[in-house]
Parts: sequence; structure tokens; C-alpha cells
Amino acid sequence: MIPESFIQDVLARTDIVSLIERYVPLKKAGANYVACCPFHNEKSPSFTVTPSKQFYHCFGCGAHGTAVGFLMEYSGLSFRDAIKDLAQQAGMQVPEDDKGDAAHRAQSQSLIEIMAQASRFYREQLKKAPEAIEYLKKRGLTGEIAARFGIGYAPPGHQALKQAFGPRYDDASLVEAGLVLQNDAGRRYDRFRERVMFPIQDQRGNVIAFGGRIIGPGEPKYLNSPETPLFEKGRELYGLPQARQALRDSGCVVVVEGYMDVVALAQYGFGSAVATLGTATTPMHIQKLFRQAERVVFCFDGDKAGVKAARRALENSLEHLADDKEIRFLFLPPEHDPDSYIRESGLEAFHRAVGEAMPLSEYLLKVLKADLNLSTAEDRARMIHDAKALVPRISAPILRLQTVRMLSEESGLTPEEIMAALGIKANTSSGKRAAPPARAPRSNKLSILRQLLSALAHFPDLCAKLPADLYELAGHADEWPLIQRLVDLHDDGCADNAILVTLMERFRDTPQQQIAGELMMQSEQHPLTRETADEELADILQKLRLQSLDLRFQQLQQLAAQGKLDSDQSRQYLELLSLKQKLKTGQKHAQ
Ligand code: UTP
Ligand code: MN
Repeated sequence: MIPESFIQDVLARTDIVSLIERYVPLKKAGANYVACCPFHNEKSPSFTVTPSKQFYHCFGCGAHGTAVGFLMEYSGLSFRDAIKDLAQQAGMQVPEDDKGDAAHRAQSQSLIEIMAQASRFYREQLKKAPEAIEYLKKRGLTGEIAARFGIGYAPPGHQALKQAFGPRYDDASLVEAGLVLQNDAGRRYDRFRERVMFPIQDQRGNVIAFGGRIIGPGEPKYLNSPETPLFEKGRELYGLPQARQALRDSGCVVVVEGYMDVVALAQYGFGSAVATLGTATTPMHIQKLFRQAERVVFCFDGDKAGVKAARRALENSLEHLADDKEIRFLFLPPEHDPDSYIRESGLEAFHRAVGEAMPLSEYLLKVLKADLNLSTAEDRARMIHDAKALVPRISAPILRLQTVRMLSEESGLTPEEIMAALGIKANTSSGKRAAPPARAPRSNKLSILRQLLSALAHFPDLCAKLPADLYELAGHADEWPLIQRLVDLHDDGCADNAILVTLMERFRDTPQQQIAGELMMQSEQHPLTRETADEELADILQKLRLQSLDLRFQQLQQLAAQGKLDSDQSRQYLELLSLKQKLKTGQKHAQ
């Protein structure tokens, strides 16, 4: 857990305009900045960045949030990584869970620099290596695409990297980065020699590993960086930074097996492909992919290994499905990989193949039916038996139900019988994805507490004027945690323009998230001035009091109607009656 105070500091030191400007060209429009929205397709700009409130909002698609939210949406970073990214830019160190982590962070930072330097060196070397350039040309790549993917060349020679690193070549960190190996005699040598180099980048564009392809025949065909503190194979996807824009435009990501597949597809105009790095598709990959696109199409080579990889991807997907997301499987003709396929059949054919890819449910059924003869009762039983290991794991409730129906058609059992056999309870929305908390429909008119929150968010110094008994007046409401936190933030000296964004991040993934979001959006249209704010606060507090008096009054009234008022309560009842009168006329005066 990153401490909230740290998040607050990071947000206070972040300027959302300069952050977003790194990714989206912004134009000044009055006090705000506008651009064409990066989250949906549009011709005229409805994406607005409000520096005074430090948030963005698109009037076209409704996207909105803080600097953290922007990084998460745009780059697909996790919350933690987004905070880390912002902290790094603000020159701050994320407090670590244990002491070892601080060292780890410093080490990662230096490894990132080393990898960047190596990558530059390899790119330079490519220019001086006609045989490598020839190889890439033969594979149909232009210089432009090679540059886009940062492709380079590791020259021959055992210590070529000395040219890049000089005396630092002997640092332990080069070994740690996976660039240099050491033999038993203690002599060091480059891991990559005479290979075309594909840099693997993380989501922020840092080079974290390399894949090196041999030019002629030889083994291994691809030599990869080992796992290092920067590089964990099951997490990374090759080509993600290059694919980002295309993913956003199409909402669909195609996952292929190889480096060259990604690069060749981009060369032929298909930009939304990424590759798992010679490993099976992990649940981590799938979560990452779904943050970037609604539809994931796994495209596997038409060979045996491809079928096996598809099967693994299927199994690892089941628990991450949602009914508004989609996974499909594309099987290329045998002997083809995406690279050879698009080269032979062209961009349009590839688009068509992607469009016609097999839905996960269909593939699942195909897997279950494989090698069975469903005209025998034994094999039908076998199918249901095998389904037990897969179908209950589907986390999308509607899709799971539909899969049960399909099994029912194939087996002749009723859906209820199948559910019983699979151990699925009817009407459960199992799976990890929790349904969003049900909310009472809200009236258009802002509730009194929303008005209070809004006024406080605008003018945090109003916090000093809140009455001591506010809890009695508002403590039961959904808005209360936000009010309380806002007051705390103000008391802790949080900068005014960081308060709203901090609230927004503090209440991410809680029932208060929606209220915080709405608060943020309303703040644009809220024309409070400092002069009217005091009055507004007084007015709001009065309405709150009236509301709570009303409640008490109604209770007493009920008792009175039943003739159950004792003398104390009678007196209170009369007092309330006259107080209500007074407050009402007071309110009229104020208006
Ligand atoms: P492929 O053997 O299908 O290679 O391996 P490819 O991508 O089609 O390569 P080209 O077209 O011959 O250049 C698919 C992926 O498996 C990993 C790499 O990530 C490769 O892109 N792989 C393969 C290795 O890591 N090492 C190997 O020796 C082979
Ligand atoms: Mn290939």
C-alpha cells in the first residue's frame, strides 16, 4: 500500500496539463485546454483539461479523471505504477514496503539506463552492418518500421559492448541487466553477438530486455534476455507501446507468438498486434490486454505448438472474462504464421480473418468435443465430465449460461441437469468480478450534502466553519466519508487544488468513487464565488438542520398521534414546532 499522504503529495506536485501534453497535443482555450479525445474517435475537440481543478473530462465520451486516472486509462498502468510514474517525474521516491525495495528501485533505475544505452548502441551498429540491413530488407521491412521498433544489431566480437560502456563494462550491473555473461575463468563477454536485436519495452517505453535473432541458420534462432529485476516474461507483451494508438482506434488487440509477426503486421499496415514472448499467455497478460481493448484475438500459428498455445490461452482466460469483453481465437492455415500470412494474402485478408475469428465459447466447445463421438452416451458423459474443469471457471455469468445451453444441445441433458453436474448454482454471479454496488437512483437536483461537498471542495477554507455536530446531521449518509476525508485533508495542509483529485484517488474502487467523480465534473459548472460561498454554506447548514429537525419532529408527531408523548417529549415537540417556524422564515429572508 502506498500511503495516502504520499499520493496526496504526488498529486500536489503533478501538473496534469504537462502530463497530458506528453501524450496528446493540447490547445489553450480560455482557462482550460482542449484536444481531440484520445479515448474515442472524434473530429472536433471535446476533451478538456482543467488546470485549476487538475482533472480532465471529455464531453463526447464522458471519460474523466485525475492525472493518475489518465495514466491508467491511457497507458494501461496499474494504480501503483501510475503513482510511481508520476512520483518519478516529480523527483519523489515512492516509500517502499520494506527496506530492500528502496535499493531495488535504485537498482532498477540504473538498469533502465543501462538498457537504454545498450539499445542506442545496437541501433547505431545496425547502420554499419550491411548484412543485417540486407536481412531485414529481405524480410520486407523498411527503415521506418525498423526505427519504429528500435531494431538494432549486436556486432560480432566478444566484448563489443565495451565500445558503449567503456570501463563500466566490468560493473556487476551489466551482468544483472543480462547483457554480459561471465565464464568460469571470470572473463566477461557479451550475451548477444551477431544478432538482429529486438528491444522489448515496458508500457512506459523503457527498454527492459532484448530478443536477438540469428541471421543465418543456427541455434537458438532467438536468444532472449534472461529474467532480470526489470524483466519478468509472463508480464510483458512485445510491441505494446507501438500498438497503443491502433488499439484505441480499433478496440481490438491481436496477440501473436513472435517478434517478427508483430513487426511484419505493422509493416503491412496492421498496427494492433502484440506478442507474448515465447511463453504461454498468462492471466497477467490477459488483464493487461483487457485494460487496452475490449476484444482480444489470439492468433496462433497453424502448427501443433499453436494449438497447444491456444489451449493454454483458453484456460488462462476463463477467470478473466466479462460479458462486455470478448476473446476470440484465430487459427491460421497450417504452415503459416501471421508474418507469412499477411505477406502472402495481404492486409485485407488478415483483417477478414481477424473479423471471423472463433468466439471463445465456440472454441471451448470444440476443445470439449475433440476426439469424441457424441452419438454414444459414454462420450456425451465424457464431454460433460471434461467441461467440469473449465465451464464453472468462466467468470462472465451470461456467457457461462450460454455455454451451458450449448452443452445442453450437444448432450441432450437439460441446462439444469448440466448445471447440477458441473456444480454451478443457478443465478449466482460467481467469478471474481464483483457487481458494482447497487445505488439508489439519484434525483437531478443536488442533494444537500452534495451541495455541501461541492462548496467545501471549491473553498476548502470553509472547513473551518463547519459545526461540531456535523456528524449528527450527516453521519449516516453516503457522502459522509468524503466530507470527513476532505476536512482531514484540509487540516493536514493539502493544497487546495489537490484536494479533489486526492479524494478521487482515495476513494477509487469504493462505493464513494461515483460521488467523487460527479463532484469533480460538477465543479466545472459551479459558479460559486468566495463572497457567495459563506452564505451558501450557512444556507446549506441551515437546510441540514431543518432536515434533521424534521426527522425528529415527525417521530414526535407520530407518538403524539398515538397519544404516547410524555411530558418531556411534549415540551420538545412544542419547541421544535416554534423552531421550525423561525428557521423557515429565516430562510425566506435569506432568499
Ligand atoms: P517462431 O519459431 O515461430 O519464430 O517462434 P518466428 O517468430 O516465426 O520467427 P521468424 O519468423 O523465423 O524470424 C515464435 C517466438 O518464440 C520465441 C520468440 O519470441 C519467437 O518470436 N522463440 C522462438 C524464442 O524465444 N527462441 C527461439 O529459439 C525460437
Ligand atoms: Mn515467422
